[in-house]
Amino acid sequence: MERRDALIVIAVAISAFAIGFSVANMYWYEKAHFMQESAYHPSLQPTAQYKSNGEMIYVSGVNEKGERILFVGGPNWLYMHGGGCASCHGLDGKGGVYPMMCGVKTPDIRYSTLTKEHGMSDEDIKRAITKGIGDEGEELDYCMPRWQMSEKDINDLIEYLKQLG
Ligand code: HEC
Repeated sequence: MERRDALIVIAVAISAFAIGFSVANMYWYEKAHFMQESAYHPSLQPTAQYKSNGEMIYVSGVNEKGERILFVGGPNWLYMHGGGCASCHGLDGKGGVYPMMCGVKTPDIRYSTLTKEHGMSDEDIKRAITKGIGDEGEELDYCMPRWQMSEKDINDLIEYLKQLG
């Protein structure tokens, strides 16, 4: 093979590789991006995966009508990525973790723990969720968002806390 032909073959091989690489890269970028979006954005998750309105609010922070539950306080990432109680108290409600950007550990919020161990009534639990006031009347850390929920949504949510234990 002539030296010139060999150079052309090499040049073609390099371009083919470069094009292939960028196409694959675009594909993976899209895919990875989509997976991230759907993991973070509760609005992209189908309602059908939840068995009740309470569970949906607990896990995603969005109710069965597709409305995001509004809140004040809480860390910035919650405003950006969305999320529900599970994001901090865990899917099992047992808490025990330090949420990102928070300096306090999350408590166990299963209904039996709140009522039997902390002596909270349903009204006390609602006050903690909506006003950020704890079982001893103390103001909870800013990390616990103050959720603005309809009476139906909060009742459904408390029903779900009972299912957690
Ligand atoms: C960004 C994290 C975060 C999210 C999201 C969150 N919490 Fe909390 N929550 C906390 C932290 C931290 C505390 C403890 C605050 C403290 O010790 O002052 C707390 C405390 C509580 C308490 C008080 C328990 C007690 O013993 O006084 C209840 C009840 C509670 N959360 C319920 C909920 C529910 C229900 C949701 C969903 C609607 C929710 N939380 C979402 C972080 C969070």
